[in-house]
Parts: sequence; C-alpha cells; structure tokens
Amino acid sequence: MHLPKLIIFISGGGSNAKAIIEYAQQKQCYTIAAVVSNNAGSSLLPYCQALGIPTLVITNAQLNTLSFVHEIQAYSPQLIILAGFLRKIPLLLIQAFEGKILNIHPALLPKYGGKGMYGMYIHEAVIAAGEVQSGLTIHVVNAEYDEGAILHQATVEVVAGEEPNTLAAKILVLEHYYYCRIIEQYLKDL
Ligand code: GRF
Repeated sequence: MHLPKLIIFISGGGSNAKAIIEYAQQKQCYTIAAVVSNNAGSSLLPYCQALGIPTLVITNAQLNTLSFVHEIQAYSPQLIILAGFLRKIPLLLIQAFEGKILNIHPALLPKYGGKGMYGMYIHEAVIAAGEVQSGLTIHVVNAEYDEGAILHQATVEVVAGEEPNTLAAKILVLEHYYYCRIIEQYLKDL
C-alpha cells in the first residue's frame, strides 16, 4: 500500500511535528518523507534521525532557490506541512505546490496573523486586546502571510489573569490533537 507522503517544515522545538509523526505511526494514514529545518539545533532532528526520517537543514538563502524546490519535489510529497516554520515560504514553492501547503497558527485568524505575529507576540496581543477567546487556525498557505483558506479552527477561553505562556500551552494541546487529524482529512479530500 502506498501511503501519502508529507514533508514537515520546522524552525523550533517541533512538538507539532512530533505529534504528527506519532499519529502517522499509530494510524498508518501517511508517512513522513522528510523534515526540513532552518534551525540546525532543533531537538526534533535527532529524534527524526533515530526513526530513520530524512532531515534537511537549510539556510534562508537555500530556501529561496529553484534547486530547493527540486529537492522537495524529488520526494513526491502530497503535502508540505508547516509546523512552527518561521520563514516566509517563497513564491516558487507555493506555485509548485499550489493548495498543498498547510500551516497552523496559534490564534483565531484573520485576527492576530501576518508579519510579526509569531510566538509569544501573538498571545501577548490577544491578552492585551482583552479577548475572551483565542485558539488555533489550520489553513492552506498562499502568497500572503496567514491568509489562505481556513480548514479548521478550535477555541480556548482566555481567563482572568491569563499569561501568554499559559495561553500558548492551552492552545498547543489542541494543536497536537487537531493538526494530524485535519491533515488526514485534507488528504482524503485532495
Ligand atoms: C505552534 O504554536 C504553531 O502554531 C506555531 O508555532 C508553534 C510551533 O510549536 N506556528 P512547535 O515547534 O510545534 O512546538
């Protein structure tokens, strides 16, 4: 049986990527063809290597080249999954994988998205605005930051005295639950 293949892009700790890898192992619904990181120090890289998942560490300059697009195409992935990848995806890659790149964002887009809205900046802005709800958004990636079609949103309450790190932690639990499942569904609908 040929399972659909994913390539996951990360920049940080890669906890979402790990949740997706674990789900793939349990459900046998897709495989991870490679993990791409622009951060050689990510702790996910040795984890992948131990599992035999190919890893590619790239520079920002490499990301923007046609030879990088070809390198990704050589894996024939059905989807590219951005999981905490902090660089703008070049147009070349978006055009080569139109509708086949997904991202997860830890807020309820279209609010709290766009340039500069990443990590704790998002949660600080949500709390400062007095929002009573935040959450996650899983969306298709297009040429504009955080503006592609929304596939799924899930919400959490912002409680009195909420701190950015407690809000981030609550949302991350939901991210780990939903991202792997929404990917599975999206692959069925392709
Ligand atoms: C997550 O909150 C994700 O929504 C955002 O970046 C964070 C990545 O966390 N895009 P991790 O590296 O998956 O732990």
